[in-house]
Amino acid sequence: MKLFTSVVLFGAAVALVSAAAAGTEGEISFEYHRYEELRKALVSVWLQCPTITRIYTIGESFEGRELLVLEMSDNPGTHEPGEPEFKYIGNMHGNEAVGRELIIYLAEYLCNQYQQGNETIIDLVHNTRIHLMPSMNPDGFEKAASQPGEIKDWFVGRSNAQGVDLNRNFPDLDRIIYINEKEGGANNHLLQNMKKAVEENTKLAPETKAVIHWIMDIPFVLSANLHGGDVVANYPYDETRTGSTHEYSSSPDDVVFKSLAKSYSMYNPVMSDPNRPPCRKNDDDSSFKDGITNGGAWYSVPGGMQDFNYLSSNCFEITLELSCDKFPSEDNLKTYWEQNRNSLVSYIEQVHRGVKGFVRDLQGSPIFNASISVEGIDHDITTAKDGDYWRLLAPGNYKVAATAPGYLTVIKKVAVAFSPATRVDFELESLMERKEEEREELMDWWKMMSETLNF
Ligand SMILES: *[C@@H]1O[C@H](CO)[C@@H](O)[C@H](O)[C@H]1NC(C)=O
Ligand SMILES: *[C@@H]1O[C@H](CO)[C@@H](O)[C@H](O)[C@H]1NC(C)=O
Ligand SMILES: [Zn+2]
Repeated sequence: MKLFTSVVLFGAAVALVSAAAAGTEGEISFEYHRYEELRKALVSVWLQCPTITRIYTIGESFEGRELLVLEMSDNPGTHEPGEPEFKYIGNMHGNEAVGRELIIYLAEYLCNQYQQGNETIIDLVHNTRIHLMPSMNPDGFEKAASQPGEIKDWFVGRSNAQGVDLNRNFPDLDRIIYINEKEGGANNHLLQNMKKAVEENTKLAPETKAVIHWIMDIPFVLSANLHGGDVVANYPYDETRTGSTHEYSSSPDDVVFKSLAKSYSMYNPVMSDPNRPPCRKNDDDSSFKDGITNGGAWYSVPGGMQDFNYLSSNCFEITLELSCDKFPSEDNLKTYWEQNRNSLVSYIEQVHRGVKGFVRDLQGSPIFNASISVEGIDHDITTAKDGDYWRLLAPGNYKVAATAPGYLTVIKKVAVAFSPATRVDFELESLMERKEEEREELMDWWKMMSETLNF
């Protein structure tokens, strides 16, 4: 991924020093941020919290706007072995504006709270690498925001500038997993060894391509993408097995996903309200319970980003619908922040659940791309470069196996509480070493026999 050029950063930074000095520092201003303002807001957070933040871009939109990310971590810019990575993506539908703003406010809030010594936030930032992308579709947002008047059209600005709906534009890996379920085949990383095909695929929008690379390059563990138009936390699968419009479509991690979705909805008083009327009187909310829904049970989405995360990487993603109005008037933004603040923080904390640890060989060297499988769950996780892994799980007792080609598999019994994650390390013996040992044992035996029998 391309680094934010220092020239651009410097220009924006100079313009903002005066704003910070004027006393806006440390407060959230609840207003809409157009592209330039979004950029400035992120730079402002970076200026206020330079030791724990970094701004980078994963690429450009069709019209050439940066897909900006603010990273928060005690070591911005590096993956620390053992530390899980998290992301929020907003505004992939350019006219769904609340998520974009909430991610900006969240960045400001985390920075403020960190500076004020809030222990919860300090712990979170020290133990998690958090990536915040307010807008995946900056072109669509500009189009939606440019409409005159308070009331915005329901569709204008949803797609990118080429007219592509980004949440239908990802490679449809559900179709592959549904075949593999029946006929056997990989249960994870379905895009492996297909990078070239992605490069050459002309149907992928630049925004989609940039996010695909981002998902493949960073060992994300947990993610949410923020939408609007309804109020619910939606979890995989989004695409139905039979192709029908409404059908509960469970993934192997159904239990985990429900729990993740609830960790968001339960802190949002509107989302979790069982008596909340539907956003519009003809809306079908019949699949909503406790503020959550299975994606397919609500309506089938082929080519969505949520299922793509789960099927192409180790990352678990859910989709958050945050507001009945897609582009509400500015005076409502503070209320949306208050409804969602605790949920947004709580959901990041879920990255510290399940089991985590390292897979190494007997010499202590990391084993990259080892598989972590859990008995009864047909979805394996793989280790990152340092041999580190994170396997999100609901509380319970599990049998967890670490496997790598050329090594003997090790299985461990693990008890998992709600949180924090249980630490489980694996040491794998290579088959070469095992053969060597067996040969030595055999030699020892011969030696002993020959001495005993005196020949
Ligand atoms: C610290 O942050 C947590 C999480 O957002 C919040 O619930 C709590 O109220 C904050 N504490 C203070 C003293 O502001
Ligand atoms: C990881 O392992 C799988 C099979 O075990 C293999 O197909 C894939 O190419 C490996 N990936 C990398 C990046 O080495
Ligand atoms: Zn949407």
